[in-house]
Order: sequence, then structure tokens, then C-alpha cells
Amino acid sequence: MNSELGIGRRRWDGTETFNNMPVKSVSNEFTESHGIDFFAQPDVISEIVNPVADRMHDAWEMGMGMTVSVLETGTGNGILIRCLKNRLDQFDKQASYKFYGTDKLSFRIQENQKLYPGINWQTMDNKKLLFMDLSVSNVFMRNTLHLENSIENQKQVLSEAERVLTVDGYFTNQAFAFQTDDEVELQKEIYNFEYGLMSKNFKSSVPNEIRPNTVDELQKMHKDVFGNAKVLKNDYSARKMANQATYQAAYELNEKQLNKLRGIILAVPEDRRPNFWVSGKDIVILSPNLIIQSKKLDGNSI
Ligand SMILES: C[S@@+](CC[C@H](N)C(=O)[O-])C[C@H]1O[C@@H](n2cnc3c(N)ncnc32)[C@H](O)[C@@H]1O
Repeated sequence: MNSELGIGRRRWDGTETFNNMPVKSVSNEFTESHGIDFFAQPDVISEIVNPVADRMHDAWEMGMGMTVSVLETGTGNGILIRCLKNRLDQFDKQASYKFYGTDKLSFRIQENQKLYPGINWQTMDNKKLLFMDLSVSNVFMRNTLHLENSIENQKQVLSEAERVLTVDGYFTNQAFAFQTDDEVELQKEIYNFEYGLMSKNFKSSVPNEIRPNTVDELQKMHKDVFGNAKVLKNDYSARKMANQATYQAAYELNEKQLNKLRGIILAVPEDRRPNFWVSGKDIVILSPNLIIQSKKLDGNSI
């Protein structure tokens, strides 16, 4: 393994770059304009990007010239796959990698195509990937599975990833993972509340329904589809996502709406909602994420 890569994962260092890319400037326009810049932060990104990039680098070194490919499904503005490409570009000038980014929103794909031609961008649904069986060495996704409105559809997404992977391929998924069923229901309710506050512009590109998962559900789903599921360490699994001030600023909430939000949370007993906190006037909502890795063919090495 390249010794430079062996240094380990790059962490948020207080600057606004990650793998030499400006990060804030490429964050999703909703979070950017609303002030919650959680998902675009470098340390959050590096949790999923760097292990995938490092594995691709190792595969390239061992593969004697075989092309190593990666597909990000539900890529959005492509920040993850672009960071991944950047990381590999820094170390592997000669290596032959193929990068694919897909999303069902064609405007996203068109925009990405214009801005970042070094990646193959294609419009498609995660539930019906237009790739051949056994054709991609790595598939990864983040913050996308909960946008399917049922467990069946979520499993279909995982099955498609499994189908297109090469026999030695890996799937890596970063997803919301709540501790309790009550939290899943609470998150859905809060989403509906937020959805009601969103401007028309944003409503056009967000789903009507979400289906976050519990930790157990996520693990089981991956096991059902791949036969194996390894939960990777995630230092950022309980990062603060929003407190009263950011919430109020993000959605321009008035006191009445804030009280409604408090009421939604307080209706669930405290011990059943470890990630949703109301105290006095404060509201804090955490965004627990899990990274799960599965291998196409089960083995002891995952
Ligand atoms: C919250 S964004 C995350 C984007 C990116 N993965 C990231 O972490 O920055 C979710 C993306 O998934 C896309 N998406 C949701 N459901 C999809 C589906 N069934 N097929 C393809 N893309 C989908 C959405 O259009 C959106 O761009």
C-alpha cells in the first residue's frame, strides 16, 4: 500500500478543503442556503470516501493492470465521488480507474456533466441500475437509502448494487441508523413538519415520504441481500445536526412552530428517543449515521 495513503484518514483541520477541494462551495444548495452544513463537512465525508479510495488503490496495485471501477448511486451534486477521485488522482497518476455517478434527478446529472467531465454521470433509478451484472468493483452510497419509502424498495436498491458488483466487489453504505422504532417514526414526523415549511422550490426535488431505519433493520437488510454486513467505526455517528438556533434560522421558525416541534418530540418518552432532545427552550436533534460494508461473495475478509 502506498505509504502516503497509509497515513490514515484525513480529518477536518479547520480549513474548508478536503483532499484539496473547497468543500463549502460544493455543498448542497438547500443546506447551504439554510445554514445546516452538516453533510458537506470534510470529516463526515472522509468516513466513507477514504476507505473506499484506499481499497481501490490496493485493488489497483494487486490487479496487474485491471481497471478498478466505482459507482456512487444517488450521487446528488457528486461531492463524494469527486472527493474520492481527487484522493486517488493525488496518489495514482498511472492507475486506471473508472468513476460513475448516478442519480434519478436529471438536472443534477446534467449539471455534474458540465462541471466535472472526468466522471461518467448517468441518470438512473437506484432500483433499476442500467449496468450489466458483475460489472463494477465498488458501489457506494450515502444518505440516500432512507429516501425510499419502504423496506421492500430499500432492499431492491441493495439488490441492484449486489447484482452489478464484480465477484470480489464491495458495497459501502452510509445511512441514518436510529436506535428505536419510536425514533424512526419521530424522524418521519419531523420530516413531514419540515417538508411543510420548505419553499416550493425545494419541494420539487425532495421526496414526499422517507423511511429511516433502525440499526438492526439496516444490518439485517444488508445481510439478507449480501449474506454479510460489517458495521464500520464511525466517529461522527452522533454529530450535532441542529439545535434551536440553527433550526430556527434554517426554517425561519416562529415561536408557535418551535413549540409544535417541541411537542412532536416530547410526545415520545425520553428513553425512547436518545437522539432527540428537548430541554427548556432548547431543541437538539442528532443525526446518527452508520457505515455498513458488504462483500459480494461472503468471506472472512470483510
Ligand atoms: C440526500 S442526497 C445525498 C447525495 C450524496 N449521496 C451525498 O451524500 O452528498 C440524496 C440523493 O439521492 C437521490 N435519490 C434518491 N432516491 C433515488 C433513487 N431511487 N434513484 C436514484 N437517485 C435517488 C436524490 O435525487 C438525491 O440527489
